[in-house]
Amino acid sequence: MRGPAIGSRRFHWTDAGIERQTTMAEGVALACEGITRFYGAVRALHGVSLSIDYGEIVCLVGDNGAGKSTLAKILSGTLSPDRGRIFVGGRAYEGYDMRQAQGLGIETVHQHLALCDKLSGAENIVLGREPARFRLGPLEILDRPRARDIAEASLRAVSARIPSVDLPVEKLSGGQRQAIAVARAVHSASRIVIFDEPTAALGIKQTAATLDAIRNVARTGLAALVIMHNVDDVYEIADRIVALRLGFVVADVPRNEITRSELAARMAGHE
Ligand SMILES: Nc1ncnc2c1ncn2[C@@H]1O[C@H](COP(=O)(O)OP(=O)(O)OP(=O)(O)O)[C@@H](O)[C@H]1O
Ligand SMILES: [Mg+2]
Repeated sequence: MRGPAIGSRRFHWTDAGIERQTTMAEGVALACEGITRFYGAVRALHGVSLSIDYGEIVCLVGDNGAGKSTLAKILSGTLSPDRGRIFVGGRAYEGYDMRQAQGLGIETVHQHLALCDKLSGAENIVLGREPARFRLGPLEILDRPRARDIAEASLRAVSARIPSVDLPVEKLSGGQRQAIAVARAVHSASRIVIFDEPTAALGIKQTAATLDAIRNVARTGLAALVIMHNVDDVYEIADRIVALRLGFVVADVPRNEITRSELAARMAGHE
């Protein structure tokens, strides 16, 4: 089945999930250079540079107050940097707003999931990009069967299972709601999904399911930037680890090239 065209890409819904079709050669998914951000006199980020490839999972780690959420907000367009540039699709930006970011294929799964409780799982997943059955001036009628197909394909793409995409999400468990939020981001993103502490509030089983979902996001060819505290989880999914300390990048290495104790020492400033 032919899926929606998003930016320069077109998705195809297949039994295997979503096949990403790149119509434009453009190198890394997202990069930034020299990002600096102050809150009043507090310097939350200082000259932060990093890049994330398509299909890559980068875990962003660091102690409380290191600047992780500030960086995630800047990359997702909810906060602007004081200095520095962001590179997306071969273009440089001195910041952008959330709408522009979404237009560029950047989606965020926030720690406090922004789902609409009364709407069904399917409606939440297609929210903002609803398939219309017909349009009459400003009036649009939702194509429900197609919304359900898209929702189910998106959930399949991240190997998530929920009882029914027709249930209002207020009737779902925390882990199932998380699955809806991830599927929604996968449906909307054409470039990168940013996760801010996706497993912080989850139990063991739900955490495992969410880690699987993130792996599957990367398998569809999207880039994933994941903020995480639990070192075991980081070592389980990261391709590369970027560590911040007091707003500085203190490590940017493939996961296999840094031990846990080295990473802990860098984050604590003992190196
Ligand atoms: N809205 C704000 N106003 C003022 N200072 C802020 C604000 N948000 C964050 N800060 C400060 O900026 C620094 C970085 O905060 P940030 O939230 O990015 O850290 P973090 O790495 O996400 O921490 P945590 O692990 O606790 O979530 C901290 O010193 C914090 O106190
Ligand atoms: Mg934070």
